[in-house]
Amino acid sequence: MAPSLRLGSTAPDFEAETTAGPIKFHEWIGDSWAILFSHPDDFTPVCTTELGEVARRSEDFKKRGVKVIGLSANGLESHNKWVKDINEYGAQFGPTDVQYPIIADESRKVATLYDMLDEQDATNVDKKGLPLTIRTVFVIDPKKTIRLTISYPASTGRNFDEILRVIDSLQITDKHRIATPVNWKKGDDVIIHASVGPEEAKTLFPQHTTFKPYLRTTPLPSQ
Ligand code: BEZ
Repeated sequence: MAPSLRLGSTAPDFEAETTAGPIKFHEWIGDSWAILFSHPDDFTPVCTTELGEVARRSEDFKKRGVKVIGLSANGLESHNKWVKDINEYGAQFGPTDVQYPIIADESRKVATLYDMLDEQDATNVDKKGLPLTIRTVFVIDPKKTIRLTISYPASTGRNFDEILRVIDSLQITDKHRIATPVNWKKGDDVIIHASVGPEEAKTLFPQHTTFKPYLRTTPLPSQ
């Protein structure tokens, strides 16, 4: 059995067919961040809403240097037909044009590699009875390290504001010796990392406030 993927694991590399042509995953990521996300099945309602939202948020991903790629155990022909429905339905919420690649993982090679298959829910299967993919999200950094994993139930569409919020936190905490508090969003005060001593804190974060020796907040340092 493949070892389970954890935060800090290297995202496994693979080759796959996608709606944007064949890819080698690591090469496709290049120097960007990446979101690999799976949906259970094409032509299903919740998935139709999710993939449209991801298309509408393309500028939000781009400005953070994030590439997005979808995946399900459906074939290319199915994906390509379904994309037309996604765009048509999504238009009521704003211009919707799915340009990001969707992996056609009929063999379930990638889904197995990333442990995305739903082995528990006997109803989450295709016509042949083979398991479909869970709504999974992997956020991968430019070093190809897995930085976030989330699994959602089939009945619940994902919140891409939250995924973007975590990416904002990861990108800022990679740059500075800080952490981000509950419900943090870009522009809010941040927390000084425990490794920063009191004297160092005065220099690095002159505007900080000490609530407790272990809980010090500060405006976000300028870049
Ligand atoms: C949906 O996208 O609506 C869906 C897909 C698979 C199982 C349940 C719901």
